[in-house]
Amino acid sequence: MGPTAFVTVAELVRFVYLRRVLPPAEVSLVAILVTLVGAAVFSSFVFGIVERMEKERTAYKDAMLALKERERLAREMHDGLAQNLAAINLKVHRLNKLLHDQDYAAIADELVAIQAAVNLSYTEVRQSLYDLKAGQRLAEGFWTALEKQAEEFSRQTGIAVRVEPLPDRQEPWNELAAVQMLRIVQESLANVRRHSEAHQVRIYGRLEGGEFRLSVVDDGKGFDPTQGLDRGHHYGLSIMQERAESVGGRVVVQSQVGKGTEVTVAIPIR
Ligand SMILES: Nc1ncnc2c1ncn2[C@@H]1O[C@H](COP(=O)(O)OP(=O)(O)O)[C@@H](O)[C@H]1O
Ligand SMILES: [Mg+2]
Repeated sequence: MGPTAFVTVAELVRFVYLRRVLPPAEVSLVAILVTLVGAAVFSSFVFGIVERMEKERTAYKDAMLALKERERLAREMHDGLAQNLAAINLKVHRLNKLLHDQDYAAIADELVAIQAAVNLSYTEVRQSLYDLKAGQRLAEGFWTALEKQAEEFSRQTGIAVRVEPLPDRQEPWNELAAVQMLRIVQESLANVRRHSEAHQVRIYGRLEGGEFRLSVVDDGKGFDPTQGLDRGHHYGLSIMQERAESVGGRVVVQSQVGKGTEVTVAIPIR
C-alpha cells in the first residue's frame, strides 16, 4: 500500500502541478530525486521491520533453548540427586529402627552407607552446578575449562584423565556449541564414574570430516550401546544427543562389553 500511494500522489503532483510551473528537464530531476528519497525511506522502514522481527526471533530461540536446557537439568536432577536423597531417607529410617534395637554393628554399617550416599549426592549437585555454570567457565577458554574439569574429576574419582587439545588450542567457533560440548563431556565423565570401572580416560579433539570432534575414551568395562540408548529411566545419553542436536551436531557412542567406551561429540564446521 505505502509505495503505491506514494507513487500515485507523486505522479498526480507531477502532472497536475509541476508540469505547469517548471520546464520538463527540471520536472524529471525532481521526479528522480523524489523517487530516490522515497525508495530510501521505504527500504529503511522495511529493513527496520525485518531487523526487529529477526531480533524477536533470536530472543525467542534463545528463550526456548534456555527452557529446554532447564528441562534437561531437571531430568538429570530427578535421575541423580532426587533418587539419592530418597535412598538416604530410607537409610535414615532404617537407622532409627536399628537404634531402637541397639544393634551397634548394623548401625555402623548403615552410617558408612549413608556417608557414601551423601558423598554421591554432593557429587551430583556439583555436576548440576557445573552444567549451570558451563557458560561462565568458558570465559577462561574452552581447553582450559576442559582441563580444569578433568582435574577435578581425577581428584574426585582417582581416575587419570588426559586432555589432548587441537593444535594451537583451536576452539569451537561457536560459543553455544562449546558450552554444549563441555556439558556433554561432563555427562560422559559422570557415566565413566558411575558405570565404567575405568582406570584411564583420554579426551581428545580433532578436525575431521568437516566437523569439530571431541571424544571421551575410557578403558572400562564397556556396554552394549544399542541397549543403553533407550532404557526407561536413563536419560544421560539421550540428553547428550539432544544437547548436540540443539547446536546442529550429533553424539556417537561406541562401546563393546569388555572393551571400554568412546563417546564422540561432533559439530559441523561452517
Ligand atoms: N562409560 C560407560 N561405561 C560403561 N557403561 C556405560 C558408560 N556410559 C554409559 N553406560 C551404560 O549406559 C547406560 C545409560 O547411560 P545414561 O543414559 O547416561 O543413563 P544413566 O547414567 O542414568 O544410567 C548406563 O546405565 C550404563 O549401563
Ligand atoms: Mg548417565
